[in-house]
Amino acid sequence: MKPVSLIQFMIEERRAGHVNAELSLLIEVVARACKRIAVATNKGALGGVLGMAGSEDALSMNIQGEAQKKLDVISNEILLEANAWGGHLAACASEEMEDPQPIPDMYPKGNHLLLFDPLDGSSNIDVNISVGTIFSVLRCPDGVTEPKAVDFLQPGTAQLAAGYVVYGPATVLVLTFGHGTHEFTLDREVGSFVLSRRDIRIPAETAEFAINMSNQRHWQAPMQRYIGDLLAGKDGPRGKDFNMRWVASMVADVHRIVTRGGVFYYPLDAKILQQGGKLRLMYEANPMAFIVEQAGGAATTGRERIMALQPTALHQRVPVFLGSRREVELATHYHRSADEAPG
Ligand code: AHG
Repeated sequence: MKPVSLIQFMIEERRAGHVNAELSLLIEVVARACKRIAVATNKGALGGVLGMAGSEDALSMNIQGEAQKKLDVISNEILLEANAWGGHLAACASEEMEDPQPIPDMYPKGNHLLLFDPLDGSSNIDVNISVGTIFSVLRCPDGVTEPKAVDFLQPGTAQLAAGYVVYGPATVLVLTFGHGTHEFTLDREVGSFVLSRRDIRIPAETAEFAINMSNQRHWQAPMQRYIGDLLAGKDGPRGKDFNMRWVASMVADVHRIVTRGGVFYYPLDAKILQQGGKLRLMYEANPMAFIVEQAGGAATTGRERIMALQPTALHQRVPVFLGSRREVELATHYHRSADEAPG
């Protein structure tokens, strides 16, 4: 079969009425920026891109209060710069920046809002483990010419497109416009993303889970019970053995799930109770939930569907349960039934 490039794929999607010209051009700009991030991550130590941003005495910190890696800063700049002149955006918001970034006056403006986590899992960069970019596209509310944070606070169901790029042994883009989830692999010689899987389906059942077990003693009771039942394997109530994986890079963990099924959990625990969770709703949970649901999987907070949440802040954090549908539903059931139990 003849290879289908990302551009050809988006022309097909336009003809099918799944995407308009402005949105497909916006995705092309994001994909081009991600190719540049792939080049920077691939250079590793030779590109002088490893290590922390800032100086030894004054590390550069992001809005989340986390020390930034050089590649966090570089990836953020690549995405901002590429998207500023594209003409398809009203504003961008990045996990690395406190406030949305307006489009400079010298460039034309469009009617989309772009949110991104420029380099997710960046603690893995220095040890040469996969990292990734996550993005989500919303429509700018009608009549808004200078979008503020409040204009981005739309539920995940309002997303027009979402995707991630995993910078691993291969650079892979996974994308949805709300009509299935599709995968493109970067052909480095040709320099273009080529369709490698159309309409991905995540198996509903799984025997593989991903969670940071070191937080076990801090989890809430339903999570303790649920994971306890998985760990009991064949001898426990589930009657089968489960395997565990944890890359600590959400993009890599989710990519495994969209490839062979499985579940990913970052539940609430006592250490992160005040902040509402570890992962960010707008930059991580919503786009990944859209991708996973479009592939037949499920995504909840352990209690509610992620995409139905009304966001209250740009950098809001939430618990995340996503992946193979039946297993996510079961984990969610443990929480809901505990909440409903008398006493
Ligand atoms: P960061 O981008 O700050 O490295 O965060 C990574 C996220 C996510 O990608 C990953 O699943 C999770 O944090 C890992 O958290 P733990 O370090 O607590 O395992």
